[in-house]
This record gives sequence, C-alpha cells and structure tokens, in this order.
Amino acid sequence: MGDRWYSEAVVYCLDIDTFADSDGDGVGDIRGLIGRLDYLARLGVTCLWLHPIHPSPNKDDGYDVTDFYNVDPRFGTLGDFAELLHQAQNRGIRVIIDLVVNHTSDEHPWFVSARSSPDSPYRDWYVWSEHEPADRHQGMVFPGEQHETWTYDRSAKAWYYHRFYKYQPDLNMTNPQVRAEVKKIMSFWLQLGVAGFRMDAVPFIIERTEPGNANSPKDFEFLTELRQHVQWRRGDAVLLAEANVEPDELPQFFGDAGGSANRVHMLFDFMLNGRLMLALARQDPEPVVEALRDTPALPEGGQWATFLRNHDEIDLSRLTAEQRNQVYEQFGPDEDMRIYDRGIRRRFAPMLGNDRRRIELAYALQFSLRGTPVLRYGEEIGMGEDLSLPGREAIRTPMQWSYQPNAGFSDADPEKLVRPVIDKGEFSYEKVNVTAQRSDRQSLLAWFERMIGTLREAPEIGSGSTTHIDVPMPPGVLAHRADGPTGTMVFLHNLGTEDTMVDLSLLQPEADLPIDTLADRDYGGVGKLDALKLSGYGYRWIRLCRNRTR
Ligand code: NOJ
Repeated sequence: MGDRWYSEAVVYCLDIDTFADSDGDGVGDIRGLIGRLDYLARLGVTCLWLHPIHPSPNKDDGYDVTDFYNVDPRFGTLGDFAELLHQAQNRGIRVIIDLVVNHTSDEHPWFVSARSSPDSPYRDWYVWSEHEPADRHQGMVFPGEQHETWTYDRSAKAWYYHRFYKYQPDLNMTNPQVRAEVKKIMSFWLQLGVAGFRMDAVPFIIERTEPGNANSPKDFEFLTELRQHVQWRRGDAVLLAEANVEPDELPQFFGDAGGSANRVHMLFDFMLNGRLMLALARQDPEPVVEALRDTPALPEGGQWATFLRNHDEIDLSRLTAEQRNQVYEQFGPDEDMRIYDRGIRRRFAPMLGNDRRRIELAYALQFSLRGTPVLRYGEEIGMGEDLSLPGREAIRTPMQWSYQPNAGFSDADPEKLVRPVIDKGEFSYEKVNVTAQRSDRQSLLAWFERMIGTLREAPEIGSGSTTHIDVPMPPGVLAHRADGPTGTMVFLHNLGTEDTMVDLSLLQPEADLPIDTLADRDYGGVGKLDALKLSGYGYRWIRLCRNRTR
C-alpha cells in the first residue's frame, strides 16, 4: 500500500435508507449497515461513501439538508454513527460522507429565518435579488422538472437563487460567515472520524453568483482554503469532488502548487463515464482511448475516481447528440428509461441485457483503468431497476439480501418500506440476491470478490501510470498497461463479439514469466505475447513483470 490510501482504495457507495433495516420500521439504518460491514469487507471494499446522512425532508434523497450537525433520526443517532466509524475502522474500511453545502433545504432554520425578514442574521447567508434576474430561466440542472433558477419568495419580497430544485436555496459562499460555517461542519465530522468528503456540486459551491449573469465567475481559491483547513484537521482526509465540467476546466479543481494538487484530491471522471457508455454501445474502444488522451494530466497527488453507475442518472451530456442517441438506442431505448434530456435512469445489468459476459467485461475495464474505482451498492449482484418509480428513484430500491420477504432488507410490512423491493421479473429479489450468490462460486458476487482481490494485488493500477498501448489491435480490442514501483500489468478487453488474437510481441522484452491474473476464461497460460487469444467480450489482466527490488 502506497502513501496515499485513496489511490488504492475501492469505494462503495450506498444510501443508508435502502441498505439494511435493523429495527423493522421499513427504513435502512446505521445499525443495519454495521451488521453488513463484514459483507463489505469480504467484497474488498476499503472506503464507504455514504450519501447524505443528515436530517432532511428528503425531497431530493437527502441532498436537501436541514441540520448539518446531526444524522437523520430515521437512520439512528450520532452515537450509532460513531460506532459505525469504529466498526468500519476495525475492518480496515474508511468512511467518507456527502458534504452538501452548495445549498440547504428551504426548511433549514437558516433559510426559514433568512426569508422571514431583511434583518434576519441569516439573510445574507443566501443569494437574493431585489429585481427579477434576466437569467432566471437559465442554468437549470433538472430540465423538465425544474423551470427556473431564481424564485420569488413572497415573505422575503425578493428573488432567491437555487441552482437545483426550488426547495434547495443556494448558500451565499461569498459571505465569510458561511465560509466559516462550512469549515466548522467539516471539522465536526472529521473530529468524529470520517476520512473525508464527497463534495456535492462543487462548480456551484465556488460560483460567485451575479443576478443576470448566467456565467458568473468562480472562486477556486475557496477550494484551496478548504483543502488547507481539512488537512490541518486530519492529514489523510480526502476531498472527492463532483464537478461535471469541460475537461479544460478540470485542472483548476485540483489546483497546482509547485506541481502538487492543493485543492481537491479526487474528481469523478464524468468524461470517461460517458465515453465508456459510448464505447460499450458501439462495441468499439475508441471513445475510451479518446477519453484517456483528452483528460488533462494530473498534478502530484491528484486522482480520478471512475464509475459505471452512481446514484444519479447516467449523464450523457458531454456526448454529441448523435453519440447520445447511439447510447440511448442500445441502453435506454424506451422514453421512460431516459431523464432530464441527457441521461438514463437504469442499473447497469439490465442495460447490458443481463449478459454476464458483458457485465464482467465492463466492470473489469472500469476497475483496470487509471483511477480509484467507485461501485454502487447492488451492482455487485447485478440488481435491476424499477421504472415504475419516479425519476432517479428507479435505481434506488432496497438492497436484495436474500429470498426472505422484502429481500431480507427489512421485517416491516411491505407497504411501510422506504421504497418497494424489486419483486417481479428477471431482477426480482428471488432471482437476484446475496444469499443465492454467496453459495454459488460462479456468481457475479463471487466474481466481484475475485476481481477486487486481484486489483488489490496489483497496486500499479491505482498508484501507477496507466496508458493506452497504441499498436494495431483487432476491432473491438483495447490494450492498456499500468506501470508502478511494484511492476507492470497489461490489460486486454474485447468490447466486440468476435473471438480474436492479439499481438503484443513488442512487450516481449519486458515480459518476465507473464501470467493471467484475471480472465473471462482459462486461456491455458500466456506463453509468447505474439498470439494472445481473446474471446468475444473477453478480457485478460496479465502480470507482465514484478519489480524484484521490492
Ligand atoms: C448531485 C447529486 O448527486 C444529486 O443526487 C443531487 O440531486 C444534486 N447534486 C443536488 O444536491
């Protein structure tokens, strides 16, 4: 393990309310999660990312907070949370939480006070305009569901700014008191023992909103301040930022102090995510190659976080309309599978037609690319979605633990569940659950455990450099390599259906007893590198050499 734990981490994200319910009220809770930590440890998870844990009216799945210093009482108490941190630590698992400080809920006492009077001490904690802003109908994040970014508030007799839904008023980050409060919130949770934050909506946190200016300037220095603050409080804490912006803007989020990142440590690689979907849809790795080529070089200590699915829609907004349509055709053919004119509200397994070979191929590819892999709960068993649920809730159904009623998620009456379990069709809990897969060595769950175990034995993937091997390849095949102090790994992934043969003889001089460490089937050894067999949808992770000096 290198110095920077996050480079070699396997991150698993979950909503406490849909993971495991310990008290039978139908809502997942912290104690339920504690009871499942051994499952996560066995899977190979080293870092948990918890979606918002705070009290909330839950209009946006917790991304509308009413108290930053507490946990949602439905989940348990702060005491339970401290116990979770302790139990996770005992198993070598770090915990990071969502930090949602671009906005609050409109029910947060700060906003309730702010809107009540111009003299409220919290008035200036939010972003107001006396007059109707000309850009009122611009910059909506949820087209179709959100119609404006400025809303007139009758009691305040002014317009307030909300980048997201109107019940999520933006905090005024130019106000020094708000900046100080954000630091205090971070300190509080670091003091309790979290290992860092997944920072929500970072481009908007640093926006210096000017009414009427749809392109308000950004204050990157605030990120430098937050980084310094966090590092003083806990040296190894990490900031993992959500910033879905154009590639040329990304380096500023990392910052650069003499070649080292001095703002966030990690950024989700949205560009790669969209290109991965396009590559899978076309059965052609070229979009991935382009993504690897186009993403900017990182300063020392900067790291990408890769993902195939997260808790939101698959965001295809960085693809052209034509590319987006190609992905829609393959993975979201029906109108109700799509959302916000830019994305797909489906789980990964159903998108790939529940084709086990393709699911393995895609996850093997994600986990072998440069960056820290992030896995969403339920993906490891191939859960499906419920399109009868509104919007993004389709992919936020309870974890499917067993054949028992409610998928073993809860003892409550089914109608009391936070969301219904999937109980029909190919992805019903009777067909897809942890218990069934636990006793089956060929299951997807068993494969994930093996794959993650292999990844952990190949630290060059996370901490080394990963590059495309730019030599002629058969159609559909991507070859890349990872080099680090511990040695060199080579990866072949065939996105196409045809069995093929790959010539990597140029790497022969580096090969020192090469072996398959992970593959879709038994290829009978590696042998010479000039004729490497590869099945349709096949993959091979080959250890080329080990650095004998370590
Ligand atoms: C990004 C989160 O991932 C999403 O779920 C949420 O709706 C918005 N930020 C607003 O907080």
